[in-house]
Amino acid sequence: MATVEAGRQLLYGGFGRLGCFDPCLSNVNGVISVKSGVNNTRKRSLVRGQVHKSSRVPRDRRGGGPFQGTGGVFHGKGCASRLDSMRYNCQRKESLNGGTAEDQRRTLFVEESDKVISAPSNGKPNSDVNEFKVDQTLDQGNGGFGSNGKPAAAAINENSSQKVKSNLIEDEAWTLLRNSMVYYCSNPIGTIAANDPSSPSTLNYDQVFIRDFIPSGIAFLLKGEYDIVRNFILHTLQLQSWEKTMDCYSPGQGLMPASFKVRTVPLEGDDYATEDVLDPDFGEAAIGRVAPVDSGLWWIILLRAYGKCSGDLSVQERVDVQTGIKMILKLCLADGFDMFPTLLVTDGSCMIDRRMGIHGHPLEIQALFYSALLGAREMLAPEDASADLIQALKNRLVALSFHIREYYWIDMRKLNEIYRYKTEEYSYDAVNKFNIYPDQIPSWLVDFMPSKGGYLIGNLQPAHMDFRFFSLGNLWSIVSSLATLEQSHAILDLIDAKWEELVADMPFKICYPALEGREWQIITGSDPKNTPWSYHNGGSWPTLLWQLTVACIKLDRPEIALKALKLAEKRISHDKWPEYYDTKRARFIGKQAQLYQTWTVAGYLVAKLLLDNPSAAKNIVNEEDSELVNAFSCMISSNPRRKRVWKKQILV
Ligand code: GLC
Repeated sequence: MATVEAGRQLLYGGFGRLGCFDPCLSNVNGVISVKSGVNNTRKRSLVRGQVHKSSRVPRDRRGGGPFQGTGGVFHGKGCASRLDSMRYNCQRKESLNGGTAEDQRRTLFVEESDKVISAPSNGKPNSDVNEFKVDQTLDQGNGGFGSNGKPAAAAINENSSQKVKSNLIEDEAWTLLRNSMVYYCSNPIGTIAANDPSSPSTLNYDQVFIRDFIPSGIAFLLKGEYDIVRNFILHTLQLQSWEKTMDCYSPGQGLMPASFKVRTVPLEGDDYATEDVLDPDFGEAAIGRVAPVDSGLWWIILLRAYGKCSGDLSVQERVDVQTGIKMILKLCLADGFDMFPTLLVTDGSCMIDRRMGIHGHPLEIQALFYSALLGAREMLAPEDASADLIQALKNRLVALSFHIREYYWIDMRKLNEIYRYKTEEYSYDAVNKFNIYPDQIPSWLVDFMPSKGGYLIGNLQPAHMDFRFFSLGNLWSIVSSLATLEQSHAILDLIDAKWEELVADMPFKICYPALEGREWQIITGSDPKNTPWSYHNGGSWPTLLWQLTVACIKLDRPEIALKALKLAEKRISHDKWPEYYDTKRARFIGKQAQLYQTWTVAGYLVAKLLLDNPSAAKNIVNEEDSELVNAFSCMISSNPRRKRVWKKQILV
């Protein structure tokens, strides 16, 4: 171990930007040797961990379950091809139940009958102080009556039985979350997307998705279990530098995979040993070949949350991690043909990973981008070599927040302005800058827009505003302070006012409204999975509970999140934690929804943990930045011509 540490010190101290990495994290007794000098890329470096074998397992025992690895050899290929996998020899000890990984997955699975009889084992007293406070808030103003209009005593009884039920659901959720953990060389490194033993087809739901792991990671952080998050961050970082191609074409180096799988394969030249292999998917195998633009952004967001929750800043300070952040930034900040500061992406590059007409500058990506830029600004070590990158990042933050706050925002006043827009204005001081034709205002929006409240639209392009309400983008704009404080409150006002449309029987619609008829045919390509009010097309995704909760707590309006949580608790466990719900009111379990979907479980847990301890949300949110506020007001007050001069000034 001392040798490993010495090697690390040597690498980090001596080679500055050399992209070295520590594949085996803390459990390897070994020696690190770096073969080739690499300039700002890790794919050509070789890191070896020397190991001792201690036991042999017959080959038919292999599988991707929990291993008791004793060490191994990591082969970072000199020039890895897509077919090569990240290999780490990880010999398994006899496992206690002796089953395959699949067997373990099934045995570990919580039994239906265990669900409600066990007492809460989460160690939390039933009369939690914070929860009581929230209930009190809800009950205020009812003149001695509970929130449901029943006499207070009955309401208290009901509340305590609800709390018991809620704690049982939480216990079940923890069991499910732990059972979804994936191990690599005996270390937990992520959670699989869905863990339903009765499902005949798993598609790629047996993989660890980067975006799906975020609520899992946050739940573990809130619980004080930091290792799995640290391992996830460092292992996915190794995958970033993977050589990835689709029909001979490679995307940028900073791309993070959408997902990865741990496979266990026979070790070459040894009949009895197996090794663990990390097999990433950057979209080259994904349905529709969609590039996961959000993965790297979420990775930065989780890295920051890890540092804040655990207090361990050594991970973000590592040279390889700093390099990883910079690679993501370089990819996002690269110059292109764009006129706008928003990130230009293809359809399906985020949570909605199928064609849904969100190509261009979708809000979700912009909100994550903004949050990742803020996180990177906080975490990047100031050094001369990164000065330009950090300056570009700061400029982008100002431009991005101005653009979104100014042009994506709609409320009754703005809608009325659009309704009366003049078009075809050629000038610097055009009011209707994007040449939006008022006829684009959809009829549903006239009813949907409340008199108090507003939201950020889904997308903006020349002559096109996508007026659909996209939940994740709006919620994360609150969390990241991309929206102003006033706008943030207005978004929650709208959610409150439009509860029946956006939540109804299960939180939370992924977008509103659904595409129907001819529009559905053209925009989705007649996608049978995205039929109206199903899946990405207006389906309801319980995982969104966690982002809703963070947003509500940030604005000190936890009662909205609590209402959503209580609603979810009515069905979510009984329905086996589905991936999504269908129909306008979210009454049916989704047509093709996976059951025991991990981010449904984790999203619930994060919401529950945060409502129990709202102060922990400070580790996830980004507070409004005074530097940005000043720059922003400077932009607003300047006229368009001066704006151009100002922009030039800050870019030098
Ligand atoms: C679906 C979702 C995507 C998620 C994946 C795994 O493809 O659209 O957002 O990451 O399932 O759960």
